[in-house]
Amino acid sequence: MTVLVTGVAGFIGAAVAAALLARGEAVVGVDDLNGYYDPQLKRDRLARLAGDFAFIAQDFGDAAALDAALAGHGFDRIVHLGAQAGVGHSLIDPYSYVRSNLAGHLNLLEVARRRQVGHFVYASSSSVYGANARLPFAVADRADHPVSLYAATKRADELMSESYAHLFRIPMTGLRFFTVYGPWGRPDMAMWKFIDAVLRGRPIQLYNAGRMRRDFTYIDDIVAGVLAALDRPPAGHAIHNLGNHRAEDLLRVVALIEAATGCPAIRELLPMQPGDVPATYADIAATTAALGWAPTTSIDDGVPAFVDWFRGYSGL
Ligand SMILES: NC(=O)c1ccc[n+]([C@@H]2O[C@H](COP(=O)([O-])OP(=O)(O)OC[C@H]3O[C@@H](n4cnc5c(N)ncnc54)[C@H](O)[C@@H]3O)[C@@H](O)[C@H]2O)c1
Repeated sequence: MTVLVTGVAGFIGAAVAAALLARGEAVVGVDDLNGYYDPQLKRDRLARLAGDFAFIAQDFGDAAALDAALAGHGFDRIVHLGAQAGVGHSLIDPYSYVRSNLAGHLNLLEVARRRQVGHFVYASSSSVYGANARLPFAVADRADHPVSLYAATKRADELMSESYAHLFRIPMTGLRFFTVYGPWGRPDMAMWKFIDAVLRGRPIQLYNAGRMRRDFTYIDDIVAGVLAALDRPPAGHAIHNLGNHRAEDLLRVVALIEAATGCPAIRELLPMQPGDVPATYADIAATTAALGWAPTTSIDDGVPAFVDWFRGYSGL
């Protein structure tokens, strides 16, 4: 099997590509290595990918250029993980979300349609639950009140996929990831920022005065979930939660970081940020039933593993 992986230089894309290569699959990877965060981290992730791997540096928001770049590359599955991520940034640069997450998603759906791939797996987000007050979040819940443009683009991706799966009979699976963390993670996300600040003796910013709960999901569990989904094409279009099924108190995560680094955190308490939600918590019963997948890494093990990696990579 040859898999087209988009966002292959990203946090989740590089980890999924590494797992596919390790089990002997061929991978064609696309990424534009954009500067949303340090592209050196993206290049460092790519440098670790070994095996039957071809890398294409390309913006998938440009349909014609994408088609030209993919010409001559065969693949029979698509794992579309490339996107403009980040809730806060969608209030600053909304058009980058339209280009990568709306036009880009359509471009990949069109590739799937023309190539008649056997399965199209793509990244959605827990943010689609938006102002949903019922916890834990289940896929059957309504998801029509996004509180950021990022969330709105991810929900739109699900709806576009629904129409393509129906019209062109391509099996599709959308995966709603819940706050992913771990080695080779993302510098714009809270856990990376906290570890970095604590090790440098700088204050950490706790929004909503730290009264936040997140379903933190370790990267290895996410990779296992993506592969479990990829190996089980649905009859039409399926959507699954990939979360740890625990709503962790942010202050507990801070305490784990203090324990793992041996450094005290200087807490700066701030108001809630626009676009953010106070709690996320995944109901994964349906995912487990359909994919036979369940997370295995608690934050008690995951946070120290992330801190270890962070110290080695940053030299702090
Ligand atoms: N990490 C999380 O906690 C989380 C949570 C929910 C959903 N997601 C989703 O999972 C997917 C992967 O996220 P990630 O954490 O690995 O983010 P990431 O930013 O590390 O990876 C995304 C990659 O896509 C690439 N990319 C973006 N726009 C592109 C374009 N137009 N053309 C080509 N490449 C482009 C970027 O350069 C980057 O390497 C994204 O769709 C994201 O929205 C992530």
